[in-house]
Amino acid sequence: MHVKKLTNFIRQPLRLMLVSILALSSLAWLSLTHGEAIIGDPVQGTNDTILGSKHDFSGLNRRAGVVAMPTVAFSDYGNPCVYCHIPPEQADTDSIAKGAIEGWNRYQPATDSYQLYDSWFLDSKTESPSPITLLCLSCHDGTMAVDMVVHRPKSFNISEDSALHMRINSEDNTISCGKCHNGRVAHSIAIKHIDTDLKNDHPVSMRFAGFLRSDEDFRRPHTPEGFSNGVKLYEGRVECASCHNVHDPSKDLFLRANSDVLCQTCHTK
Ligand code: HEC
Ligand code: HEC
Ligand code: HEC
Ligand code: HEC
Ligand code: HEC
Repeated sequence: MHVKKLTNFIRQPLRLMLVSILALSSLAWLSLTHGEAIIGDPVQGTNDTILGSKHDFSGLNRRAGVVAMPTVAFSDYGNPCVYCHIPPEQADTDSIAKGAIEGWNRYQPATDSYQLYDSWFLDSKTESPSPITLLCLSCHDGTMAVDMVVHRPKSFNISEDSALHMRINSEDNTISCGKCHNGRVAHSIAIKHIDTDLKNDHPVSMRFAGFLRSDEDFRRPHTPEGFSNGVKLYEGRVECASCHNVHDPSKDLFLRANSDVLCQTCHTK
């Protein structure tokens, strides 16, 4: 989302009461560690709400009724979870040695390629993006194909793979979904392309200012994991997944809270 829009949001009058401050010791909050990799087991995930959403690459083609997307634009691995998660049979592999983002089945983008949001007013400078944000960027920055995973499921026959391995990019060429997704053949994909320039977007991977100490501009989260409406913090940081839950399509744009209350969840003004 863009900063100009952001400032309009912020000017909206406060509709929320100030949230109660949690009497949790600051030290306990600091002891959070990196999580284990989540295994993408399609059997356990049979009823997962991600199925049927825009992040379900196994169902995408059937739903849209476009035969050109599977096996042409991207490989259909048969397991909808592996586009992000490590497949169960590869759970014990050292994925990081193969170039994976820690905990995920995707290659680490070049972290120094990002222009991060910076402003004179920022209390806590953003560092390079955290793994869970790199996960999103590995598709949405448009530099890597959506099917470019570290481990393909064992059941997938590589020799029959003839896909073009397209990227989320609005360019008119055979490596970009924009070939069709140009607003004429199919809906434009341009707005989903976040790019590597993150300066116009909401800052990510910075420590939440209201986390450990009181800051009049920010609310205190209800628990170390975030706010009771689902807005989430990751080791005290704001990430793409703080505002979006790719597993839950029930709100527009996978948002964790409706956009009229989302900003005031964290900001007091
Ligand atoms: C502070 C909350 C917040 C954070 C952090 C955030 N987003 Fe969003 N995002 C939004 C909101 C609100 C919208 C819808 C309004 C808009 O487009 O400006 C949105 C829109 C989007 C869209 C859809 C654009 C469209 O209209 O179809 C994508 C894709 C997206 N975000 C991805 C990301 C990625 C990737 C990151 C991390 C780099 C991220 N977001 C971080 C709140 C956030
Ligand atoms: C587009 C990427 C993506 C795909 C595809 C995906 N996931 Fe996830 N998954 C995530 C992210 C991001 C999280 C972390 C969500 C959070 O922190 O709340 C997650 C979390 C999980 C969790 C932990 C849930 C929890 O409450 O902590 C499980 C289990 C899981 N996914 C299973 C699956 C299964 C099974 C599939 C396939 C049916 C799947 N995922 C497909 C991105 C994905
Ligand atoms: C495997 C590739 C991939 C990954 C990883 C991924 N996305 Fe997406 N995402 C997509 C595609 C493809 C679309 C649909 C684009 C379209 O509709 O044109 C999409 C759509 C979206 C949308 C817009 C949904 C809508 O209803 O229009 C949001 C918001 C979004 N993604 C956020 C995220 C966030 C946040 C993460 C990380 C937690 C993430 N994505 C990870 C591929 C990915
Ligand atoms: C050969 C043309 C073509 C190519 C290439 C193509 N698409 Fe599509 N796609 C379509 C058409 C046509 C539709 C249906 C109309 C629409 O949604 O605008 C569609 C629909 C979609 C939808 C909406 C599905 C739904 O359930 O709402 C998503 C998401 C999507 N495509 C993602 C992608 C991604 C990601 C790529 C690149 C990896 C891609 N497409 C490449 C033609 C194409
Ligand atoms: C998960 C908590 C959270 C949510 C939700 C959130 N923000 Fe933020 N926002 C932050 C943090 C933390 C910063 C960085 C503040 C700092 O370090 O000074 C920030 C910074 C900003 C900035 C830049 C301010 C500056 O000083 O440069 C703008 C603008 C902004 N947010 C707008 C929004 C809008 C609009 C929304 C709703 C769409 C939103 N935020 C939702 C936590 C959040």
